[in-house]
Amino acid sequence: MIKVLLIGSGGREHAIAYALKKNENVKLYAAMFNKNPGIKKLSEKFIVEKDLNKIVEFAKKNNVDFVIVGPEDPLVHGVANMLEKHNIPCVGPKKEVAIIEGEKIFARRLMKKYNIPGLVEFKEFDNYEDAERYIKNYKKEFAIKPSGLTGGKGVKVFGDHFNTIEEALNYVKQIIEKKIGGGRFLIEEKIVGEEFSFQVFTDGKNFVEMPIVQDYKRALEDDKGWNTGGMGSYSCEDHKLPFLEEKDINTAREIVRKTLESLYKETGVYYKGILYAQCMADRYGTKLIEFNCRFGDPEAMNVLPILESDFVEICYKILEGNLKKKHVKFEHKATCCKYVAPIGYGLNPPKPFEVKVDEYSIEKSGALLFYASVNEEDGKIFTTTSRTAALVGIAENLNRAEQIAENATKYIVGEKLYHRRDIGKNIEKKVKRMKALRSMDT
Ligand code: AMP
Ligand code: GLY
Repeated sequence: MIKVLLIGSGGREHAIAYALKKNENVKLYAAMFNKNPGIKKLSEKFIVEKDLNKIVEFAKKNNVDFVIVGPEDPLVHGVANMLEKHNIPCVGPKKEVAIIEGEKIFARRLMKKYNIPGLVEFKEFDNYEDAERYIKNYKKEFAIKPSGLTGGKGVKVFGDHFNTIEEALNYVKQIIEKKIGGGRFLIEEKIVGEEFSFQVFTDGKNFVEMPIVQDYKRALEDDKGWNTGGMGSYSCEDHKLPFLEEKDINTAREIVRKTLESLYKETGVYYKGILYAQCMADRYGTKLIEFNCRFGDPEAMNVLPILESDFVEICYKILEGNLKKKHVKFEHKATCCKYVAPIGYGLNPPKPFEVKVDEYSIEKSGALLFYASVNEEDGKIFTTTSRTAALVGIAENLNRAEQIAENATKYIVGEKLYHRRDIGKNIEKKVKRMKALRSMDT
């Protein structure tokens, strides 16, 4: 048997557990932050624990063959380094290189130093006065980005989350006073275009791409409201997105290639795990918005269910430093993932409440169900402040995948739940918008 410890307990981690367990030789152990009923069902043994020392202890006690980490937090805080001290391999980068997500300032400096494509105009700050002067003289629209981790909710963009210099400066004040993301921050030119998630498996030298996914970050339909960790996502049967040109994908590939190379040059550490470049195609080409040191959530739920190859073998190849294209094959199918979440998620979520999940009907409907930030108590399922569960449709084309996912949302019932019905729909609009952007006069 192969003993694997999975860290994390959201929808992404349920999808990781599902992919690992396709290999019948896997005995799964789980270190969860909340009691996810889906992961619990798939695992031999689990603990509900956030303390990394205790998680490493659990890995040692159960003699696991390797660990795989879902979320960024443990990676940025060095869980791979801690495991290495006990000779336990980890699919997930060591902290020297996970900093690519942990400090946005590090990522931008690296891009500049090594001439990595996709760089935007940026400046780093740690105090109010300098930022005020810069903002007041800045001629373009901009984004304000705390440098450290904020759970995907720290970035604010002109025209989307604030509309005046005054509001911008208020946010700057808050970042400094409340030390949001550590209190250091970037001011970047605002990029206008379509975002896409470019995820790769990598052993630090070689990398293999996954199907490209588009995530919906905003809380409300028509991309309104505050930012969330992601309300849903889709991918297409050709593994590309209809609004992207070949050159956009080539740039994303080049960004990843050069970043892996530069990370090694800079730190002497090979990056082992998943690297996810959040990119945006704009009228000039492709820009890098941010790097993530792990699978996207929800994006993991798009790609892992259509992975034809053995995920466990991919993990071993990553660890051995011998990852090749032939180890990674995905089905040519479209996917659509819709998250169901408590109303107000990301802003002002309600207290935990019970949700009823009709697993039988979901399965019969052909959708996949991945539980997220919920707690199972005495057979009942309760929400937390974050996303509840995701429904994934997989089909020959996106229309059908979207219908499968949308239809299955009715089998999750709770008083204060909602989901975005527009996920995976009206993609033609995005194609048109992108075309119009590209043909603008400069
Ligand atoms: P991040 O946490 O860096 O992924 O940022 C969250 C979201 O803010 C991104 O998915 C984008 O939608 C938006 N964003 C971040 N940086 C920029 C930028 N320079 N221009 C426009 N939008 C941005
Ligand atoms: N879906 C965005 C993220 O995982 O950061």
